[in-house]
Amino acid sequence: MASERAPRPTTSVEERVEALRARKDQARRAGGEKAVARQHEGGKLTARERIDALLDPGTFVETDMLMRHRSHGFGIEERRPYSDAVITGWGLIDGRKVFVFAQDFTVFGGSLGEVMAEKICKIMDLALETGAPVIGLNDSGGARIQEGPVSLAGYGYIFDRNVRSSGVTPQISAIMGPCAGGVVYSPALTDFTFMVSETSYMFITGPDVIKAVTGETVTHEELGGAMTHASKSGVAHFVASNDEDCLDQVRYLLSFLPSNNFESPPFFPPTDDPMRACDELLDLIPSSPNKPYDMHQIIGCVFDDGEFFEVHQHWAANIICGFARLAGHSVGVVANQPQVLAGTLDITSSTKAARFVRFCDAFNIPLVTFVDVPGFLPGTEQEYNGIIRHGAKLLYAFTEATVPRMTVITRKAYGGAYLVMNSKHIRADVSFAWPTAEIAVMGAEGAVNVIHRRTIASADDPEGERADLIADYQEKFSNPYLAAERGYVDDIIEPQDTRKRLVQALEMLRSKRETIPQRKHGNVPL
Ligand code: HXC
Repeated sequence: MASERAPRPTTSVEERVEALRARKDQARRAGGEKAVARQHEGGKLTARERIDALLDPGTFVETDMLMRHRSHGFGIEERRPYSDAVITGWGLIDGRKVFVFAQDFTVFGGSLGEVMAEKICKIMDLALETGAPVIGLNDSGGARIQEGPVSLAGYGYIFDRNVRSSGVTPQISAIMGPCAGGVVYSPALTDFTFMVSETSYMFITGPDVIKAVTGETVTHEELGGAMTHASKSGVAHFVASNDEDCLDQVRYLLSFLPSNNFESPPFFPPTDDPMRACDELLDLIPSSPNKPYDMHQIIGCVFDDGEFFEVHQHWAANIICGFARLAGHSVGVVANQPQVLAGTLDITSSTKAARFVRFCDAFNIPLVTFVDVPGFLPGTEQEYNGIIRHGAKLLYAFTEATVPRMTVITRKAYGGAYLVMNSKHIRADVSFAWPTAEIAVMGAEGAVNVIHRRTIASADDPEGERADLIADYQEKFSNPYLAAERGYVDDIIEPQDTRKRLVQALEMLRSKRETIPQRKHGNVPL
């Protein structure tokens, strides 16, 4: 006779649900009250608060809430909080799907170990497979020291995914706390980096190491704070005053971007008349060619409702890059700024604009270029540091771009810089010039000094002779008509018609399809 088994203790469904809830509750409070209070005292939101502020209310779906590390050593095995030090998942921004990870500084200082890397990689893979942006909210002490090379491997897996996602889905980084050492390379591989003033910093080696190695004294903020990277290094594209402002700006940026490289950017039915005349542009250009004016005035007038989201506003201000809308469609704007370095192209402005143009091209965002460029910035510093290499980046970027490309030449379009700035010769689709445009090898004074040097030297009145020759050159060359005769510009337009003409051109170009020669990839002069 079979012996009777003792009955197993049973757990009801209700008890199991309770146990699940308790675990999830623990996950939500993983950092502990003290660490949360410290985070708030430092002017920072917690990872979960940040996600709530970023996403449309109630849309966050969390992944891997119950993951926890399985490492040993240095006592870490005694503390295994659920979720580890990162919150991951997906949700909606303005009704569109995005994936998000938010490092949780209240748990192990947001440091990255094996589990954090696995959680981040999982959502990056989902984002790539489903064609949606990834937003990384970074606030971390870096590689988790107790996990040694396992943490380093984790960064490698993330870098790999950053690169594979590049040009497929937009990747956005917000630096909202520490981000130091080799870990900075994940944000650096993404498309746009936001930094929060005073609470975030990024550097490869910190102030202490710098002091020991070079003897320089520098604070965290001076070395790697938001304004440093926004104005000196160009590492940060946007600066925010606090966490909420940063997350608002991320949402705004996404309003200009498609979810992936197969989609078009979102369309917003325009409230601004597409045919509106820009009368204020009529007397914008000064009569003296050496007098500056603010290119922002043209941008503010031409695009829908004067709306413009400037990228790298504080860096390389001699070129302006940013997003705007034309009759409801996103466009990327690249414009010389005569107010800064006379609008010349230099190393930083070429690099800045090249990366922006390549982003727009990768994500189907048409380009509108405003040209007032007297040439490349002269000087040994520029030459020694490779203006030849860096200027080539912008030339390459515009030339390879297959999105609709439109150009408006407002004033100077001199020499090689004219060609670089989305000229018809490198296949801009539509090119307009204002009557004030000067499309020439160089400006009148420089040209006369080269070609009439002997005539001026042998004249009875050299200065009078020079003035006559300059006037003569200006009449012949400092205008857009020679270029128009050749079809190098499609039309010379009245400034007040600029918006209308660009709207018409974009409407015509929206069905543009261009095939490119088959190749593994080009060799952009990096
Ligand atoms: C493990 C870490 C940690 C880390 C911080 N913590 N960083 N734990 N690994 N990397 C823990 C702390 O022990 C502490 O735990 C908690 O997080 C909060 O840290 P605090 O030091 O109290 O905070 P704070 O004073 O605000 O200073 C933050 C900090 C500092 C500046 C980030 O923690 C720090 O210097 N951490 C080390 C940074 C670092 O050297 N990381 C390696 C970078 S090199 P308790 O339990 O006390 O709350 C790197 C290479 C990767 O990452 C290369 C990949 C390519």
